[in-house]
Amino acid sequence: MKVTTSRKSKARGIISSAVLGMVILLPPTLASAQSPDEDITFSRDIMPILQDNCQECHRAEGIGPMPLMNYEDAKLWAPLIQLKVVNRQMPPWHIDRTIGLQKFKNDRSLSDDQVEMISAWVNAGAPEGNPADLPPATQFTDATAWSIGEPDVIVNWEYTVPASGPDLYGDIFTTDLVGKMQNGRYIKAIQTRAVDDASRRVVHHALSYASPGNSRTDQGDDQFLVEYASGKSAEIYPDNSGVLLQPDSEVRLSYHMHPIGVETNAKIELGIVFYPEGFEPEYRRWSKQLGQRQSLLDIPAGEVVRTDGYVYFHTNATITAFQPHMHGLGAYQCLELIYPSEGATAKTELISCANWDYNWHTIYNYADDVAPLVPAGTVGHIISYMDNTDSNPGNHDARNWTGDGPRTIDEMAFSWLGWYSMTDEQYLAEIERRNLMNEIASADD
Ligand code: HEC
Repeated sequence: MKVTTSRKSKARGIISSAVLGMVILLPPTLASAQSPDEDITFSRDIMPILQDNCQECHRAEGIGPMPLMNYEDAKLWAPLIQLKVVNRQMPPWHIDRTIGLQKFKNDRSLSDDQVEMISAWVNAGAPEGNPADLPPATQFTDATAWSIGEPDVIVNWEYTVPASGPDLYGDIFTTDLVGKMQNGRYIKAIQTRAVDDASRRVVHHALSYASPGNSRTDQGDDQFLVEYASGKSAEIYPDNSGVLLQPDSEVRLSYHMHPIGVETNAKIELGIVFYPEGFEPEYRRWSKQLGQRQSLLDIPAGEVVRTDGYVYFHTNATITAFQPHMHGLGAYQCLELIYPSEGATAKTELISCANWDYNWHTIYNYADDVAPLVPAGTVGHIISYMDNTDSNPGNHDARNWTGDGPRTIDEMAFSWLGWYSMTDEQYLAEIERRNLMNEIASADD
């Protein structure tokens, strides 16, 4: 593939953040591909990108608002496609590309070259080219199928959402698991899904937890399992780690649903794939809401506010995943590590920052060879920016003060972090392994 046009024009401008609602990360302008390159065609150059990065969602049964399956679709949407990819709002992947770690297992973003190619193609009038150059159509699996593979166990909940009224919050308990498992087993992959279209419309988000021993606790001791939220995909744990599930656990679904004008029977399923019976992965994995802001949120009308939260790591650990969580006023969130100090000053490291779009609850799974290694005594620092001005498109009304709360129109600030603990031996061995890998890599250069 040939991309010459816009490499030349590195001059990048700033699109008013009032238009795009992007804070801090300044996107390149649409003008970055001013010299149209007639050579870029839909059939040869653009279709492969749509197949690999867009059609999973932009097809008839996908979650995207319109299909992008052929030339007619793409031509119709060309200007908006340009805007969304240049501003890196599509594909949805909001990691700040200028800060911190950049290697992820589930990265669905486009390369700079791909973005420039799409932009140049649109500027050239979105030419079709020769249909004979089209790649074979991609075969997709059924969009409603489990993305974790066929589950070993499925837990079901049902809830009737009335036609109208306020947002609904609460817990539904089930003992569905009792009798379906004989012994404790390690979870390899897990996914919650709203079963049909109607359920998908009323379920805003749902978190699941297991209470071992079927003893309903005050919720503090429960093992968090997985989150379902618009845009959040399934969790597949790193190969050598798993979450232990006890056979007699009661499973709790903590839900947030909203009425949609007709009474709706919401059906939700939790699918679990286990490691083989008796198998013990090397690491036991955890996932928790961490770094909850320290004080109550206080976000005056028309202002941008920063909040900070902290979490202490009592043991050595590998952090496997970062998932920011805020509500409509959220703009940007970072994970920083403050390492145990040896001298007067502690060393800090900015690990990841991401722009926030409430439509998308994306989990950023670090690639195994870069997943942050934290020594015991490290403090995780979650830095969140909330934008209560008109320039934030997620803001319903910039004239209102906003504070903490569970409702969609209240605010929250924390991260979901996935991690597993390590003994000193495991920790040192992993550091040694990575040093060795780096030596081999630099010897190759
Ligand atoms: C993970 C699913 C997913 C992927 C992958 C994805 N999209 Fe989207 N797209 C959506 C959803 C959902 C929306 C509507 C909500 C939003 O804008 O966030 C959307 C909105 C859009 C819009 C705006 C439509 C409108 O009416 O406002 C465009 C244009 C678009 N996507 C193009 C693309 C392109 C081009 C790609 C690939 C380079 C892509 N998308 C990849 C799910 C996806």
